[in-house]
Amino acid sequence: RVKESKEGKSLRDHPGIQKAAAMIREGRLVAFPTETVYGLGADATSGEAVTSIFQAKGRPSDNPLIVHIAGADQLDELVSEVPSTGKQLIRRFWPGPLTVILRHRGTVAPPVTAGLDTLGVRVPSHPVALALLREAQRPVAAPSANRSGKPSPTQAEHVWYDLSGRIDALLDGGPTGVGVESTVVDVTREVPVLLRPGGVTLDMIRETVGEIRVDPGIRREGRAPRSPGMKYRHYAPRGELWVVGGSGKDQMQKVQALADQARREGRKVGILTTDEHREAYRAEWVFSCGRRSEPETVARGLYGCLRRFDEVGAEWIVAEAFPPTGVFFSVMNRLMKAAEGQVLSSGEERKA
Ligand code: TXA
Ligand code: MG
Repeated sequence: RVKESKEGKSLRDHPGIQKAAAMIREGRLVAFPTETVYGLGADATSGEAVTSIFQAKGRPSDNPLIVHIAGADQLDELVSEVPSTGKQLIRRFWPGPLTVILRHRGTVAPPVTAGLDTLGVRVPSHPVALALLREAQRPVAAPSANRSGKPSPTQAEHVWYDLSGRIDALLDGGPTGVGVESTVVDVTREVPVLLRPGGVTLDMIRETVGEIRVDPGIRREGRAPRSPGMKYRHYAPRGELWVVGGSGKDQMQKVQALADQARREGRKVGILTTDEHREAYRAEWVFSCGRRSEPETVARGLYGCLRRFDEVGAEWIVAEAFPPTGVFFSVMNRLMKAAEGQVLSSGEERKA
């Protein structure tokens, strides 16, 4: 467990950080907190180390990893050129929950990029992540520290549940702050392209670079998504998940009706909602992931909530949709993927 001491002693001297950094240099696997979710890190310059990340997670090898660095000054050794839009985004959002896609120079091990000529890079803002990266003195490849397909871990306990016995170390920095992964933006194009919505919102990016396109895969327009990771079922609890659109009373009535229908069909049913509506529902489990009036609390609580449904054994989960603006856009992206498109508007019937 790694915490910042009050005397302002540098985290870099913490024995846990020292040990973990040495392990990274030895090619071993270290899970660590970032401000978004926990990552599963290994030396990005070692093909063997990186390959063991894919094995531990059960991750398909065609899904490239994000490389984490301690500061933008480390970019030169990894990438050939940073276009001006990339520079603007980096200046505003690093350290923080933004990954930029750039053309690489072949200095990271090939499995990191899954054979692409581009590389995803970010500087996380979590003090434990930064201390580890500075001490390791290596670029660290790190996907989220969950078994492939599961919700990303926002607490050390989630990592332990998914990966104990498969990793060499876990730095526990308590619950993460943002709760959804970093925003991924491809800046190799004339106009930057959003590949994955995350902790940095579309509006924040627009304010910085003006124009940005949203990859059609994100809005599910049926075209092949360009971020290879977006094509797999992801973030999913074990139970069947349905998302109900609309808002207000109509939405709540539909959620309750679906839950009741599934219960009559003999399923163990859970409802995923927010503090504002929790008392109004009846189901075996009603979990709130945050406050609708404060979207960042919902982002922070979402994955933990999905995992709780697994813990209690929910077989059927109904979730309220959120309006797709601000960080709710990222929340909805994850919910839709977890539900594999099982979305009902408040007027629709579910076919049994
Ligand atoms: O917040 C985060 O980004 C967390 C923490 C640990 O930093 N990491 C994370 O990594 O979410 P992962 O592997 O779960 O997601 C990486 C995403 C995938 O969707 C992957 O396809 C995409 O980034 N990606 C990585 N390299 C890419 C590239 N060269 N081109 C397009 N997409 C890329
Ligand atoms: Mg992931």
